[in-house]
Amino acid sequence: MSQTETLTPDDAGIARAAALLRAGKLVSFPTETVYGLGADATNASAVARIFKAKGRPRFNPLIVHLPNLAAVHAVAVLAGEALRLAQAFWPGPLTLVLPLRDGSGLSPLVSAGLPTVAVRVPDHPLARRLLAKAGRPVAAPSANPSGRISPITAAHVLAGLGGKISAVVDGGPCVVGVESTIVGFDPAPVLLRPGGLPTEALEACLGGPLARAAPDSAINAPGQLASHYAPKAAIRMNAENIGPGERLLGFGPVQGAALNLSPSGDLVEAAANLFGHLHALDAGGDAPIAVSPIPDHGLGLAINDRLRRAAAPRGTL
Ligand code: TXA
Ligand code: MG
Repeated sequence: MSQTETLTPDDAGIARAAALLRAGKLVSFPTETVYGLGADATNASAVARIFKAKGRPRFNPLIVHLPNLAAVHAVAVLAGEALRLAQAFWPGPLTLVLPLRDGSGLSPLVSAGLPTVAVRVPDHPLARRLLAKAGRPVAAPSANPSGRISPITAAHVLAGLGGKISAVVDGGPCVVGVESTIVGFDPAPVLLRPGGLPTEALEACLGGPLARAAPDSAINAPGQLASHYAPKAAIRMNAENIGPGERLLGFGPVQGAALNLSPSGDLVEAAANLFGHLHALDAGGDAPIAVSPIPDHGLGLAINDRLRRAAAPRGTL
C-alpha cells in the first residue's frame, strides 16, 4: 500500500469509498462514536487485512455495521429484548451481540469463529450512506493501531494508519467520542462494555437493572478465552511431519495436507482461512490435527495465538 486517499464527505467520496470496500480494500469512515476501519465483512481476506493494518496480535471478534434493521435481520437473529433495544436505540451508539444467522455470508474471522456476531446501526449520515451504497455488511473496529487511542478525526486516522489503508472519508470530528455500548444476551441482557449509550437509558428501556458480565466470563471476553472456539480434535502445533492418524493443516508448500491455510505461505490468506478450515476439520471427524509451523510475525502472531488457545488442554481455560 502506498498512499492513503482522503475522500470528501459528498456523493463522489462516498461512491469511491463504497467501490473500494466492495473491492476488498480497507476504508476508514466516521461514525458517531469514533472512526471505524471498515472492510467487507463477507470477504475473509479483507477482514484479515484489518488485523494486519492494526497490528492486532489476536483475532478479537469485530463489530459488523449495517444500514438498517432489515440488513441486521439478514445476518443475525434479532428478537425479544434485543429487538426492543434495537428499536429504541438504533441508529445509535449501541452494539448488540446476537446469534449468527445461518447463511449470513459473514466471514468466520469477523466473529472469531463464535456462533454470535456483534452488530450495530451507526447514527452518522456518512456512515449510513456508505453502508447503503456498499451494499455489504462492513466489519469495523476503531481505526487506530492496536493498543493506541481511538481516532475521532480523519487526521488521527492518518497519523496512525496512513499508508496502511486505502482511504479515509473525512467527515470531521465524531460527536460521541467513545466507542459504542455493547450488550450481550445470556439469555437476559448483559452489559459487556460501557460506552456511548448510557446504561441508564438501557435500563429505562428494559424496565430494570442491567446485569454486568463478570470480568473474566466467556461472554465478556470472547477474544481472550481460549477454547471459546476450539475444535473437538486435539491440535499439535509446529508440526514438521504428519504423525500416525493425524490430519495436517498445512501452511506453505507442504505435502499431504488435509487442508492448507495458504499453499504460497501468505499470512493474510492464512488468517482469512483459519476459522473456516478449523470448522471444516471439526466437521470431518476427531482425528488429531497437526499444524505446520506458522511464522511468528505479522498476522502469524494472531494465528499462533488462536491456535495455541485451540490447542490448550480443555478445562484449563
Ligand atoms: O463504537 C464502536 O463500537 C466502534 C465503531 C467503529 O463502531 N467499533 C469498535 O469496535 O469499538 P471494536 O473492534 O474495538 O470492538 C469490538 C468488541 C470486541 O472487543 C468484543 O469485546 C466485542 O466487541 N465483541 C464483538 N463480537 C463479539 C461477540 N461475538 N461476543 C462478544 N463480544 C463481542
Ligand atoms: Mg478499539
